[in-house]
Amino acid sequence: MKQYLPLLIVGAIIGVFSAALIITYALIKDKKESMGFERTMKDSELMRRILRYAKPYWFNFVIVGLVMLLSVSYSILSPIITSDIEKVISAENGFEFGEVLWRVVVYAAILLGSLVGTYVQALVLQKTGQKMISHLREDAFKHIEGLSHAQLSHIPVGKLVTRITNDTNAISMMFTGMLANLVKNIFIIVGVLVAMLFINYMLTLMVLCFVPFIVLFTLIFRKFSRRAYRQVKNGTTDINTYLSEHLSGMKIIQIFNREQRKMQEFEEKNDKLYRAQRGQIFVFGIFRPAVYMLYISSVLCLFFLGAKGALDQTKILGQIVDGATIVAFYMFVSRFFNPIQNLAEQFHRLQSAFASAEKIFTIMDIESDVVDEADAIELETIKGEIEFRDVWFAYNEGEWVLKGVSFHINANDTVAFVGATGSGKTTILSLLCRNYDVQRGEILLDGINIRHIKISSLRRHFGQMLQDVFLFAGTVRSNIVLRDDFSDDEVLQACKYVNADKFIDKLANGLDEEVRERGNNFSAGQRQLLSFARTVIHRPEVMILDEATANIDTETELLIQDSLNKMMNIGTMLIVAHRLSTIQHADNIIVLADGKIVEQGNHHELLHQKGRYYDLYTLQFNKEQLKKLV
Ligand SMILES: Nc1ncnc2c1ncn2[C@@H]1O[C@H](COP(=O)(O)OP(=O)(O)O)[C@@H](O)[C@H]1O
Ligand SMILES: [Mg+2]
Repeated sequence: MKQYLPLLIVGAIIGVFSAALIITYALIKDKKESMGFERTMKDSELMRRILRYAKPYWFNFVIVGLVMLLSVSYSILSPIITSDIEKVISAENGFEFGEVLWRVVVYAAILLGSLVGTYVQALVLQKTGQKMISHLREDAFKHIEGLSHAQLSHIPVGKLVTRITNDTNAISMMFTGMLANLVKNIFIIVGVLVAMLFINYMLTLMVLCFVPFIVLFTLIFRKFSRRAYRQVKNGTTDINTYLSEHLSGMKIIQIFNREQRKMQEFEEKNDKLYRAQRGQIFVFGIFRPAVYMLYISSVLCLFFLGAKGALDQTKILGQIVDGATIVAFYMFVSRFFNPIQNLAEQFHRLQSAFASAEKIFTIMDIESDVVDEADAIELETIKGEIEFRDVWFAYNEGEWVLKGVSFHINANDTVAFVGATGSGKTTILSLLCRNYDVQRGEILLDGINIRHIKISSLRRHFGQMLQDVFLFAGTVRSNIVLRDDFSDDEVLQACKYVNADKFIDKLANGLDEEVRERGNNFSAGQRQLLSFARTVIHRPEVMILDEATANIDTETELLIQDSLNKMMNIGTMLIVAHRLSTIQHADNIIVLADGKIVEQGNHHELLHQKGRYYDLYTLQFNKEQLKKLV
């Protein structure tokens, strides 16, 4: 029994240590539950959803598996060969050089094979992982595109960016490195165990004594690392969100001298992320030494028992322990603990991937508010007749923005909406394209409720020119054609039609002139003209124009006026106009106040009525007159 004393001592120390860990763990777990954490998906469910993306590439994974066997065999065979060499060298009556040489050659060959295997494995995995992830990224993007305006305005842009970039990357890492290594390490552990059993089962049992502790450590680590990772992820998203919002608003921040305050806010978030990251490192920093301690303990036990066995040439439970056994076991023990350490490290990254997957899938689980009905129809061509029937709408429940709006627009007519800011003009236009669904009443296109029409089909027939024209980074051409195929001739024609050709001609590169992010190298008037060209070239049956309120120079205003008059001939047109001179030729003018229609009629009829339109018009007219006089 005496020879087991050191083992027992080591075991006892570790036992006390792990008991302490379990107690801390229990304490923290309670705290965690009372913190009310966000909903979390099960690992198995996440895995199932991720694997769906891996399925098309199963063959690549089979190749990786085969190649992996090479490096596994290296891990198992190298200690055996080394111990064999030791045996040959320490033979009592000397040894021949040749005997050692061929063993070294075999060793080298296996090593080489394992290296090549590792290379091929990395190559195939990287490629496959990137492909999988680009699919996932596409799906996520497609899903976000399908969300309604209301939903999109609730999710910060930075958050979406993080989901599509960082989070998908974390999942890609999981496939390119982690999963393969996971399998490989499990193979190695099993292989090494079998080899050890063959050489000396007693020493193997000794090594196995440490396994329960490893499992325990890993379980504890698992809980801690997952929490730490989630905090880091949340911190990163927070910072990204903050940055994307504030970098776009930097000009405003500078104008209003808010740099100091914003800096403080940023520092707070930065500090939070720093602390989360420090916490994560701390968790990891405890686990690694813990496993290392187990490793060292088992090596010490091995040396103690081995040295004892070798010195007195006695047997430990029937098996002789000699120098070669010690050499083999010394190598095996590290071959055994290394993968475990490795698994732990991968676990840490696996946790990160799971945390990321959870976030992506949470976004992908948000169902769009505005969706096609099951039997929604496709509309090939439309006439462009529009009707609102007692439409009630609120962005926030109970706060009605439109209160029983009804009107009818004949195909090919031009209708203008007039009213004070906040009276609901923009809202009417966005309901028409189903950016939101109405709560009461119905909207009809060619006599069909727009809810029964496929959204994509519906929007194809509308050309929207919104209040703040959005230009993408790219060229003038790319902003007009928007990914569709149009010849240069068509583009130029469209530009000419809306009078955009004049300023485009003056640009150094014409249609190829660079458009910077959000089009901030173009004036408001130029942006508006570009949006006209964009609309006209796509030949919609219904055009929607929410006129920019921004100041536009008189020259550009005349151009806009002229192109508007031309566009009125294309099809049905709905205009929100701020300059009433724009809409004098409209077939019908609808005057809104506080979400209700107060007057309707053409320019002359309304002036004649001397109602609200008359007031607005005389007000503006006088202002224009005044401007001219000054
Ligand atoms: N996305 C939104 N969420 C909540 N309220 C909104 C939103 N957009 C507009 N509103 C509110 O709806 C009302 C009508 O807005 P809008 O249709 O843009 O007016 P108009 O275009 O006539 O100036 C305003 O009171 C505005 O505050
Ligand atoms: Mg508006």
